[in-house]
Parts: sequence; C-alpha cells; structure tokens
Amino acid sequence: SKRVTTSTFRKMKKSGEKITVLTAYDYPTATILDQQGIDAILVGDSLGMVVLGYNDTTQVTMEDMLHHIKAVSRGTKRAMVIGDMPFLSYHISIQQSVINAGSIIREGLAGAVKLEGGKEIIDHVKAIVNAGIPVVGHIGLTPQSVHQFGGYFIQGKTDEQGQKLLEDAKALEEAGVFAVVLECVTEEVGELITNELSIPTIGIGAGRKCDGQVLVTHDLLGLYHGNSPKFAKRYANMYNAMGDAINGYIKEVKEGAFPNENHIFTMDSENVTKLYT
Ligand code: KIV
Ligand code: NA
Repeated sequence: SKRVTTSTFRKMKKSGEKITVLTAYDYPTATILDQQGIDAILVGDSLGMVVLGYNDTTQVTMEDMLHHIKAVSRGTKRAMVIGDMPFLSYHISIQQSVINAGSIIREGLAGAVKLEGGKEIIDHVKAIVNAGIPVVGHIGLTPQSVHQFGGYFIQGKTDEQGQKLLEDAKALEEAGVFAVVLECVTEEVGELITNELSIPTIGIGAGRKCDGQVLVTHDLLGLYHGNSPKFAKRYANMYNAMGDAINGYIKEVKEGAFPNENHIFTMDSENVTKLYT
C-alpha cells in the first residue's frame, strides 16, 4: 500500500482516526511493525538506552542515529520513518542543524526528523522546515534535557506549566512542524494542546485525548530489563521468552540433543550443497 506521509497525518487528525507510532532501531523489528500496519516508525534516540546501553540519551551521536535509521528504512515499505535528531545536533548553529537534518533524510532515507524543545529552538525548526524537511516537534518531558531537569518528572502539573507547554506547541505549529510529540504530560494538558492545534499530537504518557500514541517497542514487548514507566503497557514478556529459548539451546547443546540428524550434512546425501530445505 501507499506510503504514509504528512498529508496522511493531517487527514487522520481530521477524521479522528488514531495515529499509531512505535520505535524501532533495526531491520527485523521495522519489518514486523510495517507488516502489522503501524503508521509511523520512530528511530528514537531511546536507541542509546534500550539498544546501546548508554546511561541517557545525551550520549547518542549522529553516527549512531544514521546507522540505525538506515537499517529501519531498509525494512519499511508503508510506514513513515521518523529519525530523531540527537543531543547537540540542532543547537550549535542553524547551518549545522540543517546539515544534520538533511543527512537523516538523504543518508538515512527517513521521511521526517524529530527534535526536542519549544520556543528556544524555533529558529532551528524553521530553517529545517524551510529546507523542505518534514519536522516533528517534541515537548513535555524531553529526555535530552534530563541533566537540566535533574531527573525524569511529569510535566504540565499546573495551569501555568500547561500554558507554557501550549505556547511552545503553538510556536512549533507556526514554525511548520506537521506533528508534535507530548511526553509525560497530564491528561488535561494533553487534551488542551490537542484541541488547540490543527496538527496531530502524538502522546507518550500524555493521556487518552491525543491524536496518536507512541511507545518504545522494547517497553511494550517487555524486552527491556528493569523498570518500565507507568504509561508503558506491556503486551508481552519477550525478555522471558528470549531467555527460555536461549536456555533451551544451552541445555540441548550441553546434553548432545542439538544438533540431531535433522540439522546435519553428510557426504552421501543428495542435496549436500543446498543450505536451505
Ligand atoms: O527516543 C524516543 O523513543 C522518543 C519517544 C519516546 C517519543 O523520543
Ligand atoms: Na527521543
């Protein structure tokens, strides 16, 4: 079927059809998400934490991102691929911001980029949009600012904070972003921003009223060892499922049960040169 684009997003906001987004960082996961009909795949800089073992997302580089965005793009036919811009890749100069966003599109073959922040990065957002690059905004709990926040806290707990978030969302919309991620904001603020914007909101821990939802796939698969946040519903326990499979292999090799006669090649068998049966 046809590729999901920014105009698909616009239509979905209008019709009220929920937009589904999940993260992927590799080819096989992208293939599964795409085949199941996910609307967009986010190659998030959560990559750093769930795949690369960094402490937080500030350690993720453009090189890290491009490596994984390329793999995801190769596994995707229908979904829009959104590539995260990592820490400091859209802050130093307008020129560097456009070059980095451009390489996520040109080298990574993504359909859009996402960057964190509101009014403080608006000139960078405008320059990237003016280069013809679709941009997704991201406000609320923005993990690249974890050291400034002093931890991970729910945002939009007061009317004042809610108004500030709404102003950031409106500034982003005016700058030309085609969607905005709301991370860890109260349901009230999620609803307020969703109602006030004409572009779709994609929530993660932002309540039920957003135009779409996004989760880190490792969280929903239960593939991430450690605590997962309240908003991340687990749809499977892949950590245990993978553990069981690995355990089965170790046991069978130790016992001599694997490989058996089904897994071997012999000199007298007819299809000795064929690897696949
Ligand atoms: O990096 C990421 O996975 C994200 C989502 C949590 C929105 O930015
Ligand atoms: Na991110």
